This record gives sequence, C-alpha cells and structure tokens, in this order.
Amino acid sequence: MFNKLTIDDIEVSGKRVFCRVDFNVPLDENGAITDDTRIRAALPTIRKLVDSNAKLILASHLGRPKGEANPKYSLAPVAPHLSELLGRPVAMAPDCIGPQVEGLVSALNDGDVLLLENLRFHIGEEKNHEDFARQLAALCDVYVNDAFGTAHRAHASTAGVPALVRPAAAGYLMQKELQYLGQALAEPQRPFVAVIGGAKVSDKILVIENLLGKVDTLLIGGGMAYTFLRARGVATGKSLVEEDRVELAAELLAKAQQRGVELMLPEDHLMADSFSAEATPVASDGVTIDDSLMALDIGPKTRERYARVITGARTVVWNGPMGVFEFNAFAEGTLAIARALAETDCLSIIGGGDSVAAVNKTGLQDKMTHISTGGGASLEFLEGKQLPGVVALSDR
Ligand code: 3PG
Repeated sequence: MFNKLTIDDIEVSGKRVFCRVDFNVPLDENGAITDDTRIRAALPTIRKLVDSNAKLILASHLGRPKGEANPKYSLAPVAPHLSELLGRPVAMAPDCIGPQVEGLVSALNDGDVLLLENLRFHIGEEKNHEDFARQLAALCDVYVNDAFGTAHRAHASTAGVPALVRPAAAGYLMQKELQYLGQALAEPQRPFVAVIGGAKVSDKILVIENLLGKVDTLLIGGGMAYTFLRARGVATGKSLVEEDRVELAAELLAKAQQRGVELMLPEDHLMADSFSAEATPVASDGVTIDDSLMALDIGPKTRERYARVITGARTVVWNGPMGVFEFNAFAEGTLAIARALAETDCLSIIGGGDSVAAVNKTGLQDKMTHISTGGGASLEFLEGKQLPGVVALSDR
C-alpha cells in the first residue's frame, strides 16, 4: 500500500541529508517547550540517519510568523532539548538559508546534526517560491520528509525541495502515520466505526462525506451534533447551530441512510444556561433542549450507547471532541470515548489536536493503537485528499 521510498531504501552515509520534520511544538511565554510529542515522534528517523553516518540537516516551521524573523517563533529552544533526547550535540543555525548556513553545512562531519532556524521566517516557504526552494536544495544531496503534520501543505520544504532533490524519501513517522490511517480507510476490520466531533459541521463535511462510503457506524458529537438534530426537527434551544448548514446536515443524514450507514446522534445532553466553565451542568430528560439552555456535552445515555458501539468495533477512527471538554464539567462525554477506546481491543486511530489532547487528559495514550501527530494533515487524509508532501516523494 505504501509505494514511496523510505529511509530504509536509500544510501545516506557521508551524504548531506535535508530532513523536514514537524517541530511545530507549543512554547510557553519563556520559550520552554510545553509538549515535546512531535520531537519525540521524529527520534526514530533522526537516530537512523545519524547512525547511518548522514550529515543531518533538520528543518521545520514553528507557528505562523508570516515570512518575518521573529524571536517568539525561533526554533532555538528545540536544539538543546533534542540534544538531550538524542544524547549528542545538536547545532543551531542562525537562519535556514544564506552563506552562514552554507558554512555550517560544509563543516558537518558524518553523524553531525544541524537544526535550521524556522523556515517560515522567509515568505518563500509558504509561497513555495522556487528561488527559496533552490537555496534549501543546494544545502543537501538527499531529501527526507518525516513531517506528517505538515504534509497537507504544498510549501517549499514539503513540495519545492523534493521536486529538486532526488531521492526524496519518507521517514519512519511519515510512513507509520500513512500506514495506520491508510489501512483504516482502505481495508478496515469491521465493524468500522468513526467518531466525529468538534464545533462545526462546516469543518467536517468532507470527512463525513468520505467516511460515509467506508464506515459501518458514524457517531456524531460536539457542537456539530446540534445542527444535525435541528435537521431532524429536534428543538435545540440556545445550542450552537449553523443555520446555513441545516439543509446540508439533512442531506448527509439522507446519504447515510441510503448507504446503510448507521449515523448516531446524541439522545441526551449536558446543558447550561451560558457558555462558561463555571456553568452548572443540567442533564436533559431526553433529546429535546429547553429554549433557555444550550447543550455543551453528550449526556449519560449517549455516553453509554456510544461506548457500547465502540466496544463492539474492530476499527475506530476518532476526530473531534464530544463536548466542550476544556470545561471540566463538560468533559465527561469526550473522556468516555477515550476510556471506551482504551478498554476495547480494536484498532484505534486518533487524529486532530483536540481529541489527542482529550486522550492525553485521561493518561490512556498507551492504550491507543495510533495517535496521529497531524491535526490538519490527518483531517485532510480522512477527507480522502492527496497530501502534497507525500505526493512529492520518490516512488518506490
Ligand atoms: C500543525 O500544527 O498542524 C502543523 O504543524 C501545520 O501547521 P500550520 O497549520 O501552521 O500549517
């Protein structure tokens, strides 16, 4: 199924290897890394390249500095952190192109590691300017992409450089992400259940459409559930409803029925009179939401029903929370999904920043088959789109 070259297929000893990683990690106000998951996820590839005596050049973006150098978005804090994880020095470059960087690259010995400064300090990165891509390409002999989280972007470092440098191979993280997500969509063990949540239907239309052709059951939660309930004629009170998507929601419900997919919506809710962390949760009697209230989480009956469906599944893909899980009083629905997945012996694949954060909140990460490091990238993959960063790699 995976038809791209990987780092196991290429010769890197003594070569200058440009490895695109996704070190877009959260930093606190003092520049300290608050979650290093993405750095750790790239370690197998980095170790393999170092152990194979590559002269390793690591490149990433961090945040959205919009084409200007901005110390707030510097990758400098990553170098010492990575060095500690690797147990070897990681040099930090002052920029990602230019004579100084070229000098640092020429001074690399086999097995050395150099981290370039934020690619997005140059406008040419996001615009995929050929001139910028050429300057990056001139630094190396071999291209590797391990940045699954950025594979949905057609930027210079993900699309421009691999068009100029061959071979262009996938790293282990890229390969692993594509294999898990790809296997779930292409040859799922059944029953295949998708759990889709999040605030807006409009963000998930393409995912739902694509999954309707593949899954046996679709469990819907989060803010988007109320637009679906409205489409079914249920009173939704003050809940979030995208009025201009009610018709589309009705079409998706009809499509699910035509295809024989069981599309489940919440049958009860936890509600509040305002959107606030301090609001007191009120459980609904049934599916109807009182005029003065808004639903902020799925209710206990829905939690139980969704958990039962997950328990009977062989493959589950989950994207998006079931409620406003950042408010403790409305986190239970989302946490219940995480717990059901942890207790079930199925292939569980979690994508999207919020659902990953929810799993991390339960401490049950190790019980999941695969937690994607990609938010937007995993969503676009589930939408059935080709990812430019993958398309750009050399075929096997
Ligand atoms: C992400 O965090 O999803 C990736 O690093 C991509 O970042 P972007 O959305 O700023 O392109």
